Amino acid sequence: MILTKNIKMADVIHMNYHTLSVLNRFGIVLGFGDKTIEETCKEKNVDVNFFLEILNAFIDKDYFPKKHLQTFSVGLITEYLSKTHAFYHQVKVPEIESLINEMVDSCYTQKDTLILLKRFFNDYKQELLNHTQREEEVVYPYTLSIEKAFNQEKIDTSIIELMETYSIDIFKTEHDDIEEKLYDLKNIIIKYLPQPKDVRLCNRLIQELFILEQDLNDHSRIEDKVLVPKIREMEKMIHQRFAKY
Ligand SMILES: [Fe+2]
Ligand SMILES: [Fe+2]
Repeated sequence: MILTKNIKMADVIHMNYHTLSVLNRFGIVLGFGDKTIEETCKEKNVDVNFFLEILNAFIDKDYFPKKHLQTFSVGLITEYLSKTHAFYHQVKVPEIESLINEMVDSCYTQKDTLILLKRFFNDYKQELLNHTQREEEVVYPYTLSIEKAFNQEKIDTSIIELMETYSIDIFKTEHDDIEEKLYDLKNIIIKYLPQPKDVRLCNRLIQELFILEQDLNDHSRIEDKVLVPKIREMEKMIHQRFAKY
C-alpha cells in the first residue's frame, strides 16, 4: 500500500513501526493525535511530497520513484541523508555495541569468540564512520556547490575548476558497498557463533543488524540512484552553458 497525505500519521506507525526512525529524521515525534500526514508535515514545516516519497520508498523496496525524487533540491536530499548518518552513529551503532557488550559480560565460556565479534564490529563502526565522514565533508558539499552554480545565471570559472578536480562520477566509483561487511558479520553470527545461554541477546543482535542493513540499503539507493544522476545532469548542463560563453 502506498501512503498518501490524507492517511493518519498514527496509522503509519501501526502499519510499520520501523518508519518511526524515518519520521524522527524529519523532526517528527510521537504524539500525533488524529492528525494526517499532511497536517503533521505542515506543522513541522516538512515538504510533504518529499516526505511521502522517502517514506514509501523506505517501506516498499519495489517502490522507488527515482525520477520524482530527483526533482527535489540537493539541499533537501543531502539534509535527509545527513540525518540518516546521524541516526546510524548516535542510535543504531551504540545500540548494537551495547548488545555485544552485554553478550560479552554475561558469557563466561565463549568470551574469546565474543571478543572477536566485538572487534569485528568495532572495525565496521570505523569503516562506516570513514564512509559517512567522507560524504559529509567532501561529497555533499560538492553537490551543494554544483546546485548553487546550476541555479546561478552566470557560470563562474571557480565551479569549472572544482569540477576539474572532482566529479560525481569519482564519487560513484569510490562509493563502497558498506552493507557487504555487515552481511558478513550477520553470517558469522548466524552460522558459527556458539550460542550463549541467553539466546535472546543473540536474537536481538541479529534483528538490529538486519534493521541497520536494510536502512543502509535504502540510504545508498538514494545516493546512487537519486543524488548521483541528478548531479551528473547538472554537471553536464553547467559544462554546456560554460562552453557557450
Ligand atoms: Fe551516506
Ligand atoms: Fe554512502
